[in-house]
Amino acid sequence: MEKLFIKGGQKLQGRIQINGAKNSAVALIPAAILAASEVILDNLPDISDVRVYGEILEELGAKVALDGETMRIDSTEMRLRPMPNGKVKQLRASYYLMGAMLGRFGKAIIGMPGGCNLGPRPIDQHIKGFEALGAVLTHEQGALHIQADKLVGTKIYLDVVSVGATINIMLAACRAQGTTVIENAAKEPEIIDVATLLNAMGASIKGAGTDVIRIKGVDSFHSCRHSIIPDRIEAGTYMIAAAATGGDVTIDNIIPRHLESLTAKLREMNVEIEEEDDALRVKGQNGYRAIDIKTLPYPGFPTDLQQPMTALLTAAEGTSIVTDNIYHARFKHVDHLINMGAKVKVEGRSAVIEGRTPLYGVRVTATDLRAGAALVIAGLMGDGVTEISGVSHIDRGYSRLEEKLISLGAQMWRERKIESA
Ligand code: EPU
Repeated sequence: MEKLFIKGGQKLQGRIQINGAKNSAVALIPAAILAASEVILDNLPDISDVRVYGEILEELGAKVALDGETMRIDSTEMRLRPMPNGKVKQLRASYYLMGAMLGRFGKAIIGMPGGCNLGPRPIDQHIKGFEALGAVLTHEQGALHIQADKLVGTKIYLDVVSVGATINIMLAACRAQGTTVIENAAKEPEIIDVATLLNAMGASIKGAGTDVIRIKGVDSFHSCRHSIIPDRIEAGTYMIAAAATGGDVTIDNIIPRHLESLTAKLREMNVEIEEEDDALRVKGQNGYRAIDIKTLPYPGFPTDLQQPMTALLTAAEGTSIVTDNIYHARFKHVDHLINMGAKVKVEGRSAVIEGRTPLYGVRVTATDLRAGAALVIAGLMGDGVTEISGVSHIDRGYSRLEEKLISLGAQMWRERKIESA
């Protein structure tokens, strides 16, 4: 089992490059199988979710070559195979195989997805979309069996704004006869990225990035090369870490507009932020004001940055309230922050954080990806050494985290511990 050790108290200083977006990558990789030819994806993050998704496609018969940040996916020889178990269970985003295989083969058998445990994560809106397009779904022994003699475009209103359902329906609707209209669609930048790839492969998608997306079905797709957008959540995590350590960090290779909600909230706390074309410079200050945060679908404050923010808010003057309207139970990191000296109470879907509580290093566990990010930030802020287990969660989504933080002056290291029986 691997552990991360962080000796807190160093101000982060310098510049770092942000990698491609995890949540785009895990949708673009399955989207590539709609073309029975080679699709090349550039700017992929170096994370385990990307490697595992490549392995899943190989198990399905695709040729996958991952070379640094570039993945070549040739699914010419791919055949319909059931995937009820195995690696699909490790990844939440394996649900995109449902839409992609339905589009490619008219059929899919996929195990119910795994991923971070953030409380209930239903996929009823994905299912509603597939059924509206003409698919028949049954649930057998932990796997979804999906079949359609033909897919026919239609109007689909999403009852909840869902990133996954919007993308999954787009994937299947690309191959439907006629036009599909998704209403109340999610507007996240990753959805625009997926639509950009699909259009480059020959699809006809209009309106991605707004709440109404129109998809005209096409018969076939062709090869293309696509570069993934920067990871706004990775960038946001480093912005919060820079502020939390009173540092001065320039975060390069980003789209500042994707981070507007975070920039606004950090400025409200008194963090100084300078904006350049494709970079943000975050200058930490000595004192911060408490703030309230409510997570919302994009362009609202992202749920994925809520946990890292709770760590930072332990240093603010006054009481902050962080409310997660997307995942009401996404507060598993709080007990660990409390062990580090924080005063936080979870009340319903909110965390109430009493500020100005110094943190100190203890043993903690990353229970999910962004909980891990929160604990890394708390470790950087804390006095003494923080020992973090559950590192595999962090490796799922952060490209070369230690390397980047060490280059900014953090004192941290990784140890592989052989557990005695
Ligand atoms: N929801 C439903 N029914 C559905 C789908 C979603 O009720 O059929 C609910 C969810 O329970 C949640 C809300 O709708 O309350 C939004 O969920 P969404 O479908 O947008 O989430 P997701 O697509 O499963 C993606 C990201 C998450 C991120 C959320 C919200 C990927 C692979 N995952 O999940 O990322 O938190 O959108 O922005 O894109 C992370 O990166 O740490 C992460 C968990």
